[in-house]
Amino acid sequence: MAEPIRITKALARKSCPKDADLGFGTVFTDHMFLASFQEGKGWYDPRIEPYAPIPMDPAAAVLHYAQTVFEGLKAFRGVDGKVRLFRPQTHIERLNNSARRLCIPPLDPDFALHSILTLVELEKEWVPRTIGTSLYVRPIIIATEPFLGVRPAKSYLYYVILSPVGAYYPEGINPVKILVVDEYVRAVPGGVGAAKTAGNYAASLYASEEAKHAGYTQVLYLDGVHRKYLEEVGTMNIMVKIGDEIVTPPLTGAILAGVTRDSALTLMRDWGLKVSERQVGIDEVVSAHKTGQLMEVWGTGTAAVISPVGELSYKGEQMVINNREIGPLTQKLYDAIVGVQYATAPDPHGWTVEVQ
Ligand SMILES: Cc1ncc(COP(=O)(O)O)c(C=O)c1O
Repeated sequence: MAEPIRITKALARKSCPKDADLGFGTVFTDHMFLASFQEGKGWYDPRIEPYAPIPMDPAAAVLHYAQTVFEGLKAFRGVDGKVRLFRPQTHIERLNNSARRLCIPPLDPDFALHSILTLVELEKEWVPRTIGTSLYVRPIIIATEPFLGVRPAKSYLYYVILSPVGAYYPEGINPVKILVVDEYVRAVPGGVGAAKTAGNYAASLYASEEAKHAGYTQVLYLDGVHRKYLEEVGTMNIMVKIGDEIVTPPLTGAILAGVTRDSALTLMRDWGLKVSERQVGIDEVVSAHKTGQLMEVWGTGTAAVISPVGELSYKGEQMVINNREIGPLTQKLYDAIVGVQYATAPDPHGWTVEVQ
């Protein structure tokens, strides 16, 4: 899209909450980015406008058939005061992969990066200052065509909203309790599990509510065919350390290709560790626990970066991991990624992009 971004500034500015009062995804900044798509015309009219409700036809395809894809990435204020996005190009690539799967026209990657950088630059004052806080960036594409037939829509809206978010764990990294379910599945090969699309999250609510009522933080899904192999947690990828091997499920199309997953794998390979992307059965995890070989388990995701798992529960059997304490490798990964994000450590892989 060659058109310049049209900017309409908000007349009144909202007040930013104090860093200590920030939660997750409840406060939004003053502006949002938007661009429209029409079949035959392509993406057009890139604009930044005051944050406001979006007028939408009640027949808009997204509301009926969930033709939509989104991303979640973060901007961090480094200890040097500079604001940086973490791996935005990788998130944009995944947004376009998700879009293709949902028959949504992809965005030009340079334009998508430009849209995010321009918006975050305008809203720079909203990037909180305390380590652990950040500005969450939510790009999303929705099908807007008013049409009740089931086919790809002919018009779309791409928009980006920003939300200052707090430290995920105000009191430090807390190991979470996870319920391994085999009654419900999240995705199947050939389905849309690898796409970041609304339906996957709507479909996960029932099992996660059941797990919450039973006292668990999250659900770990097994594969949809054998109900045996680990897949992923509701909003995180999973990694287990069995003996000296770190294992994470492969990207077979049913799980999301997590950006934090890739960052953790890259770092562990840099460190010379034995890392395998292979299927791992829940039986293997249970027997490793029995023999004392289940050393550490953690989740990876943009929201919490690295989330230690203190307990896994499967068919009524409780597996306590590393005495419910964060393990040394889990901590090392957390520190390494957070170090790059807040510029307390070098960025040898060029993961961050500075916002001017
Ligand atoms: C289903 C699912 N798996 C894994 C992840 C972790 O991905 P990332 O590390 O890119 O945030 C997320 C969060 O985006 C997710 O929603």
